[in-house]
Amino acid sequence: MKFLIISDIHAMSKDLLNLTESSQSKPGSSSIGGYNGSTRGSVYIEDRTTKANRLLAVPEYLIDAGLNQDIDFLICLGDMAHQCKRGVLQLIWQQLNDIANDLSISNICAVSGNHDVASHEVDFQNGSPDSILKNLRPPFPMADPELRRDYHGNQFAVIEEGDVGLVLVDTTSLIGYQGQRKADLWNKGFISNELISGIRASITSSDCSAFVIAMHHHPTRVHKLQDVETDYIENGDNFLTMLQDTGKPCFLLHGHKHFVNFRRYNERQNSPWIFSASSLAATPYPGMQERYKCQFHILDFALNPNTKEISGQIASWDWVAGQWEKAGSTGMTHLIGFGRQSSLKDMAEKISSVVSEGGTLRGKGAFDEVPDLRYLTQDDIFDLQKLLKETHSVEMIASHGVQKFAFYAEDD
Ligand SMILES: [Fe+2]
Repeated sequence: MKFLIISDIHAMSKDLLNLTESSQSKPGSSSIGGYNGSTRGSVYIEDRTTKANRLLAVPEYLIDAGLNQDIDFLICLGDMAHQCKRGVLQLIWQQLNDIANDLSISNICAVSGNHDVASHEVDFQNGSPDSILKNLRPPFPMADPELRRDYHGNQFAVIEEGDVGLVLVDTTSLIGYQGQRKADLWNKGFISNELISGIRASITSSDCSAFVIAMHHHPTRVHKLQDVETDYIENGDNFLTMLQDTGKPCFLLHGHKHFVNFRRYNERQNSPWIFSASSLAATPYPGMQERYKCQFHILDFALNPNTKEISGQIASWDWVAGQWEKAGSTGMTHLIGFGRQSSLKDMAEKISSVVSEGGTLRGKGAFDEVPDLRYLTQDDIFDLQKLLKETHSVEMIASHGVQKFAFYAEDD
């Protein structure tokens, strides 16, 4: 199953740039006016060329590269328009639908971001904070009316597609609340215990064997060491533990943080995979410039019918000098894998046996002999390299980020 993932576009009109400093308001205040802030996006709706507008450039790039085949879902992980500007939001949602159409993707869906719902009271006097989303055309966040009622009424909806379920979770339900926690809820999002129970019941009673969970806010630290903030959803650990305890493999996608990363929640069996998507176009938060690239991603995975485990790859592209290109080494490399079924020890022994008998192992031949090479994470690659050298005297040459491998006996 293949997902085209676009997150945190933060699109704006250039009209917003023309507001004077004194007319701007900050999130959490109720003053009238615009706010563009230091993390505004770089997609301007007035730019209609693919060189100037990276969202428009996505389908053109994928078609030119021949990568527009068999994508099952286009999913947007929230923050389509910076500061919930109605016209921009409508236009970007329409544009995402157009992209799905251009790429023959039959399913488009999304989750609400904190920038997609009105947080200033003055903006929702005639409806709820999410009334702009409820009135979008085509309907948001998916076409099916029953699932839409689930999403807007129960804060989650489950799309079942064969063996795999996609759970869309709304973490913005308390945005617009005007109490003391207003700014906190805007930043961290919210998941209630009731929502956790509802999702648990849906997953455990479903015939689907694996689940993709999509939400805007992050349920835990994005990176165990580099993310030192505690700005994640307060109930996030309970949510992730619930996913783990269902016994079904879960792959969680989120946006919001603008900090790309991929990891497992913990070391326990059946730990959920967590992919923190990059922003398509936001300006880096202060202090994050070094590891920052604007990206989009394709998640491609399959469910093993015997083990009921998932294995796959995530591909990423960087926006560089007015065009998309395969991602380099900043933050997220072009290709990473996950979900290998064999142990590194078994893989090393297999590689060693082929190489020590004078066989060559590189290029496509390496994947033919050891299919799990496709599913190595970055950490796995380093660990396998070390194991081969120390235990089998085999040299492993890995082109990080493009998944090319070559193996040689050391005395060759
Ligand atoms: Fe964002």
